[in-house]
Amino acid sequence: MKVIIAENYEDGARKAADVIEKIVRANPECTLGLATGSSPVGMYKELARRCSEEGLDFSRVHSVNLDEYVGLEGTHDQSYRYFMDSNLFDHINIDKKNTYVAKGTGDVAANLKEFNEILDKTDIDIQVLGVGPDGHLGFNEPGETLYDGAHEEVLDDSTIEANKRFFASKEDVPTHAVTMGMGNIMRAKRLLMIISGNKQEAATKLLIEDRIDPKCPCTFMRMHRDATVVIEKKLADEIGYKG
Ligand code: GLP
Repeated sequence: MKVIIAENYEDGARKAADVIEKIVRANPECTLGLATGSSPVGMYKELARRCSEEGLDFSRVHSVNLDEYVGLEGTHDQSYRYFMDSNLFDHINIDKKNTYVAKGTGDVAANLKEFNEILDKTDIDIQVLGVGPDGHLGFNEPGETLYDGAHEEVLDDSTIEANKRFFASKEDVPTHAVTMGMGNIMRAKRLLMIISGNKQEAATKLLIEDRIDPKCPCTFMRMHRDATVVIEKKLADEIGYKG
């Protein structure tokens, strides 16, 4: 696993955008696995700038997102569909018909069936990831069992606590989500994790140590043959990582 130490948030955003740009330029018909959270926002902004100012072309790119809250319509300003539109898709020349974010409302079983069918026929060229304070990947929460395919998760209290900053109150944060499984994530050709340090010190420390912690899903990415993690210097210093 390659670890890139960024000077600050903007530098991390540029370095992560470099990784995505290389893939899009090499294969303009690639499929991007995308993530939400505050960590990748700067990278999305930088990709939008490169699209408008430097001709980075997304017109034939496809995308599939990691996860979605159960109970939120795509028009809800905290849904991940809304997040992707407002942080990336509305600012690049991607065809929104080629972007997929799982449905959060309606029949969960039917939504999961559709999500799994899409994942089964999609080769993800690179999967963008963030990490939760409890080490979750997508919304794969730590537990006795990790799942291969897309499934529903009950969110841990620490996840609800961490994500309440985006909602009016903790009670407004959905308690359930649909997410790609660990298998879906590990089958992506490349993994790119961005960690900007929102209560993620403990999970990051476990991630960069040379072992797999079965109770910390993010450490599984160490087993991937092409995984890159971008962390800010401030966070690296906090956890004593020298590189
Ligand atoms: C949410 C998403 C995760 C993401 C995490 C990181 O919980 N479901 O996929 O990894 O946020 O959030 P942030 O980047 O804001 O720290």
